[in-house]
Amino acid sequence: MRVRMKDRPKASASRTVAVIGGTGPAGRGLALRWARAGETVIIGSRDAARAEQAAETIRKRADANAQVSGLENSAACGASSLLVLTVPFEGQAALLKQLKPAMRPGSILIDATVPLAASVGGRASRTLGVWQGSAAQQTAELVPKGVSVAAAFQNLSAEVLNGNEEVDCDVIVCSDDPNAAQVTMELAAKIAGVRAIDGGKLENARIVEQITALLIGLNIRHKGHGGIRITGLPKGAYRVGY
Ligand SMILES: NC(=O)c1ccc[n+]([C@@H]2O[C@H](COP(=O)([O-])OP(=O)(O)OC[C@H]3O[C@@H](n4cnc5c(N)ncnc54)[C@H](OP(=O)(O)O)[C@@H]3O)[C@@H](O)[C@H]2O)c1
Repeated sequence: MRVRMKDRPKASASRTVAVIGGTGPAGRGLALRWARAGETVIIGSRDAARAEQAAETIRKRADANAQVSGLENSAACGASSLLVLTVPFEGQAALLKQLKPAMRPGSILIDATVPLAASVGGRASRTLGVWQGSAAQQTAELVPKGVSVAAAFQNLSAEVLNGNEEVDCDVIVCSDDPNAAQVTMELAAKIAGVRAIDGGKLENARIVEQITALLIGLNIRHKGHGGIRITGLPKGAYRVGY
């Protein structure tokens, strides 16, 4: 499939973000933060009414001018070329297969999925082995040609995102497409407190996903909401506050 340049979401352009599976804590928290930053957000769900209900809750919590609506997942894919996937690993592959025909050519899909062992009844502090290397690489195999995948947001605590404090966590962005990485870093840096860092190729998502399992274990052990900070890089490596 040939993708026209004008179909690709551009860095720094105004855009609509569709959060697929946005009714859960992770998707709602991200949507809330982007709504507060003035982004237009669509909440996607398998059920349009549930999506609209979540959108209404976010509108009330964000501010009077918040642009948040709710749509069934395929309709959300059709309405935006900037998608964020926040569904449990056990539902990821089947949902992507179902949504494939609805994805617009040139879209960017940002995957926040973590393949936690909890998906198959194991511990949330352990990850599953994924044949492709990571949940994000599995996603890259399942999207249509011409859709770029980036991996990000796996280390952000939904509980923190759904609060009102600045988020004390860096977001490591991994992608094989420099434009997708750039757009994702801009979106990440819209979350107050977040610094976005280019984490290199999509295959590095495997390591970032593993960190989430470690953070969950630390949160259980210490009863907190831990995040990560990468120190010591040159100032230009950190994208803050777009
Ligand atoms: N929670 C966190 O702190 C956190 C932090 C970073 C990353 N993540 C990752 O982000 C993803 C979402 O986390 P979450 O805690 O928000 O998950 P969740 O509440 O379990 O699920 C999010 C939404 O996904 C949809 N969904 C559930 N099962 C599905 C299935 N089998 N097929 C299709 N859709 C399904 C549901 O929406 P509808 O029923 O409305 O369709 C649900 O509200 C996970 O992969 C998680 O590892 C979570």
